[in-house]
Amino acid sequence: PILIVLLCAGAYLAGSLLFALPVCRWWKLPDPRALGSGNPGATNVYRAGGWQPALATLVLDALKGWLPVWLAHSLGMSILVQAIVALCAVTGHMIPVFYHFKGGKGVATALGAGLALAPLTTFLMAGLWLGVMWRWRISALASLVAIISGPVISALLEPATLPLFGLLALLIVVRHRNNLIRLAQGRETGF
Ligand code: G3P
Repeated sequence: PILIVLLCAGAYLAGSLLFALPVCRWWKLPDPRALGSGNPGATNVYRAGGWQPALATLVLDALKGWLPVWLAHSLGMSILVQAIVALCAVTGHMIPVFYHFKGGKGVATALGAGLALAPLTTFLMAGLWLGVMWRWRISALASLVAIISGPVISALLEPATLPLFGLLALLIVVRHRNNLIRLAQGRETGF
């Protein structure tokens, strides 16, 4: 149990590192919280500085989701424990202890955690993200379609992870409430 608590706390702390901020400093870009959507995530870093810092943010934010789940898996933890560790990392990104609990939307972190725990489901979700992005060029729409499909895909392919994808969908949709309002009004900004 001590190990589980340590893994969860570590995942939450890792999740609390918002890599968009050091990446923007490194590239000498403005703080992503002060421009575009105000979200400290890869999409908004793209708005601030193009694809290179956006990709760096995406990879680093995904890694902080992947690493703790991979560690839990390597230590022989059950799927349930791995799923809880994944949720801790995503929660860290959404309500980070290092940034007054004001974080991001959790998509990249969920991607990394999902790849570690349910690669098949997550690859298909990433494929959906790319497909929607290619067609409509709206990141939030792509994220919403992918994350809402997660529970359905996991139920079919990796059913043990269905509760995780259900909770991830719930959390991430709630974090996109402003994007949803803008989408409904046809005002959502593209990529
Ligand atoms: O993953 C975040 C994305 O879905 C939306 O980001 O900056 O357009 O609100 P943003």
